[in-house]
Amino acid sequence: MAATANRRWLLRRRPEGRVGRDDLELATASRPAPADGEVLVRIKLLCMDPTIRNFMDADAGYGVPVALGDAIRGMIVGEVVESRDPTHAVGNLVWGFGEWSDYVARPAAQFFALPTRFGHPLPAYTHVLGTIGLTAHYGLHDVARIQPGDTVLVSGAAGAVGSLVGQMARIAGASRIVGIAGGADKCRRAIERYGYDHCVDYKDDTHLDAALGAAFPDGIDVVFENVGGAILEAALNHLRKNARVALCGMIARYGAKEPVPGPGNLWNLVVNTTRMQGFLVTDIVRDRARTDKALADIDTWIRDGRLRYDIDVRTGFENIPDIFNCLFTGAHEGRLVVQIDQDRAS
Ligand SMILES: NC(=O)c1ccc[n+]([C@@H]2O[C@H](COP(=O)([O-])OP(=O)(O)OC[C@H]3O[C@@H](n4cnc5c(N)ncnc54)[C@H](OP(=O)(O)O)[C@@H]3O)[C@@H](O)[C@H]2O)c1
Repeated sequence: MAATANRRWLLRRRPEGRVGRDDLELATASRPAPADGEVLVRIKLLCMDPTIRNFMDADAGYGVPVALGDAIRGMIVGEVVESRDPTHAVGNLVWGFGEWSDYVARPAAQFFALPTRFGHPLPAYTHVLGTIGLTAHYGLHDVARIQPGDTVLVSGAAGAVGSLVGQMARIAGASRIVGIAGGADKCRRAIERYGYDHCVDYKDDTHLDAALGAAFPDGIDVVFENVGGAILEAALNHLRKNARVALCGMIARYGAKEPVPGPGNLWNLVVNTTRMQGFLVTDIVRDRARTDKALADIDTWIRDGRLRYDIDVRTGFENIPDIFNCLFTGAHEGRLVVQIDQDRAS
């Protein structure tokens, strides 16, 4: 492939359910030229975030839907190769919203300098030292307001966000930390690698409600919700007085063909005087003081061995749709990213 060519995955039609190859089109264009105030970024790593599936719908839920014929939008890490703005110099490593392509030209203000001062390997900045780590830190501390002694339930416990939340809850002094994950291997991983006290396998345990009752005989102080639907409903049956529910994501509804029933037991929030709050990490990424605090904590915890993270790095630009679908079947271990700087000319 010529060094100036730009491969792009475009949205051909809006998917129903999981993303099919026919919903997308792999096109090749020439490398874009940055306008005044813009930078051209050569993408190294594409982050596979579940919410990208929402952007493919006409009603994205949040953010702007990807228009038919446009490239799929997602978080990237890359290098500035041309700059027409003083914010970022050529050679700088940046992160921000890009697209499923080799190159992207965007206003410089849309990209953030990668905090390479921490000296971790590049993929770490897509995960624990990037939006995933910030999501876990912000959701647990600012939204759920975790306190020492709290009992904590985390859905999606073996995934990117969930694996960090369990460990951060331990660092914050939680007394009992229980995860929910799909399959025996994922549950074993949540306990052995990420330090959960117990993990409920939602695929095997059809009596989720009873399993949570047994896991939390004295109830739950903090629910960190990544899945929604029946899993959230079961969690709300076991709240303690003054519980906090942090709504991080609802992956069960992303791309679902039928509406996913929401919890029918919100009365439990009334009688347990519970605060339930949704949040978006994008609301704090420009708050330098808040993100610096989180990143400094996270760097310390990695170095002193209290925070483990796993990144599932895949390759093959042409395989991106299939790689993306792994998020919805659980066929990945850790933060799912696609490295795309190996299979192109420069
Ligand atoms: N609020 C924010 O700012 C923010 C930022 C980042 C992420 N998020 C949200 O956080 C959640 C987790 O994201 P992540 O990046 O950490 O992804 P991830 O957990 O690494 O991957 C998604 C996992 O979700 C589970 N899953 C998929 N479909 C499911 C279903 N129908 N029912 C139950 N579990 C299902 C699978 O785990 P199993 O194999 O265990 O089933 C899968 O591995 C998502 O909802 C995402 O949108 C929110």
